[in-house]
Amino acid sequence: MKMIAVSAVASLSIAVGAAFAQDTDMPFGSEVEIDFAERLWDHMEEERLAGPEMIRSFPYMGSEPHGMMLETFYAVGTVGDHTGDLVVKRNFGPEGVSIDEVLASPDTHLGAYTVMFRREEGYDPDNFDWFWARYNPDGSVAQNPAGMALAGRVAKGMEDGCIACHQGAADDMVFTSDHLVAD
Ligand code: HEC
Repeated sequence: MKMIAVSAVASLSIAVGAAFAQDTDMPFGSEVEIDFAERLWDHMEEERLAGPEMIRSFPYMGSEPHGMMLETFYAVGTVGDHTGDLVVKRNFGPEGVSIDEVLASPDTHLGAYTVMFRREEGYDPDNFDWFWARYNPDGSVAQNPAGMALAGRVAKGMEDGCIACHQGAADDMVFTSDHLVAD
């Protein structure tokens, strides 16, 4: 019995240690990053870039992985006392959906929002200080198949994911515009 109790304590402390490491070392998915993503969502709703009151634009044909029909907005956003470039992409589906169908009923075709927000200097100097997030249509932060929240320096250091793929875009890691080159 004693042995069992000891090992239970040992594994508890390992679990606590991992939780701490999550907030400091993990490039994405920690409580801190999720909290920031939620504040960014509130800002996007206020600016009508997302949510029930959002401003619409004419969707264009996209490509994988973002979906076949997209709307993209280039803005400047503010969270707390920091203001930076904000790119909001709305991803519509399913595959094969027509522009008319999306225009007739955008809400039912909305699959996700993918967002880049330029954080304060030093947040991620390797990657132009971009904060990455993927949201479900209801504004909750999406998760990858492993259950990690997609918010923060998403998949930094990994072979696939937001950062690895966007490193293939021009100087600022933005594919669709060259106007957001960092100072
Ligand atoms: C496999 C490659 C790939 C991955 C992974 C990827 N993207 Fe993209 N992303 C693209 C491409 C290509 C475009 C431009 C074409 C388009 O509009 O779909 C783009 C466009 C964007 C844009 C509009 C600004 C721009 O660069 O043109 C945002 C915002 C964005 N992605 C966010 C994300 C986020 C957040 C993630 C991770 C959750 C992610 N992307 C993962 C390839 C990728």
